[in-house]
Amino acid sequence: MTEVIRRIRAEVGEGFPFAARLGLMDKVDGGLTLEEGLDRLSAIHAEGLLDAVEPGLNILHDYAENIRPYVGVGPLRALQDMLLHRVFARGPAEAYFRPLAREVKARTGLPVILMGGIRSTEIMEEVLASGDADFLAMARPFIREPDIARQIVQGRRGKVDCVSCNACLIHDGFGPVQCWRTPKTRLVEHFYKVLWAYRGKGH
Ligand SMILES: Cc1cc2nc3c(=O)[nH]c(=O)nc-3n(C[C@H](O)[C@H](O)[C@H](O)COP(=O)(O)O)c2cc1C
Ligand code: SF4
Repeated sequence: MTEVIRRIRAEVGEGFPFAARLGLMDKVDGGLTLEEGLDRLSAIHAEGLLDAVEPGLNILHDYAENIRPYVGVGPLRALQDMLLHRVFARGPAEAYFRPLAREVKARTGLPVILMGGIRSTEIMEEVLASGDADFLAMARPFIREPDIARQIVQGRRGKVDCVSCNACLIHDGFGPVQCWRTPKTRLVEHFYKVLWAYRGKGH
C-alpha cells in the first residue's frame, strides 16, 4: 500500500492534492488490526505522501460491513419506500465510520474525509463543526439524487432521500448504476430479479 502511494505521489508531484481511501482494518480473524492500520497510515503521513485520507474497512466477511443498509430510515420514509420490515426497527447510526475518523485524526492529524451513512444535513454540519472530519463523502445519496450537493447548497435541509437499501449495490456490474426505488416500478423489477437469482441458486 505504501509503495503504491509513494509511486503515485512521485508521479503527480509535490503540490498536487492527493487523497486516498484506505482500508485501515480487516474484519476477519487474524487480519489487519486497527492499530496496525493506523501505524501504516502514520508512516505514510510521516513521509508527507497524502493530503487527506478517507478511512474504511479492508477485508470483509460481507460487503454490508462497509456499506451498511437502512441507515437513517425513519418510520415514515420506510413506509414511503415500501421497507415495511423497517417501519418499527431502528437502523444503524448515521455516519457510521465517525469513530474511525476520530481515531485517524487523533493519531495522525491528517485531514479526514468521512464516508459511510451520512444522511442528513444536521449530521453533516455537526460532524464538520466537531472537527471529527474535514470533508464529507457520500455514495448512495448521489445515486438517488445526483444533484443532492446543489440542493443542499441551495438550502435543502433534513434527510436525503436515499434509504440505503443497497438495491443499487446488488445490481452493480449487471447494469447501469441507478436507484431501484425511483420510480416505484423499478422496485417490482428488482424484486423479480432477486427472486430469479435466488431460484437460480437452487432454493
Ligand atoms: C453501486 C455501488 C458501488 C460501489 N463501488 C465501490 C467500489 O468499487 N469501491 C469502493 O471502495 N467502494 C464502493 N462503494 C462504496 C461507496 O464508495 C461508499 O463507501 C459506501 O456506499 C458508503 O457510503 P454511503 O453510505 O454514502 O453510500 C460502492 C457503493 C455502491 C452503492
Ligand atoms: S437503491 Fe436507491 S434508495 Fe436504495 S441504496 Fe441505492 S440509491 Fe439508495
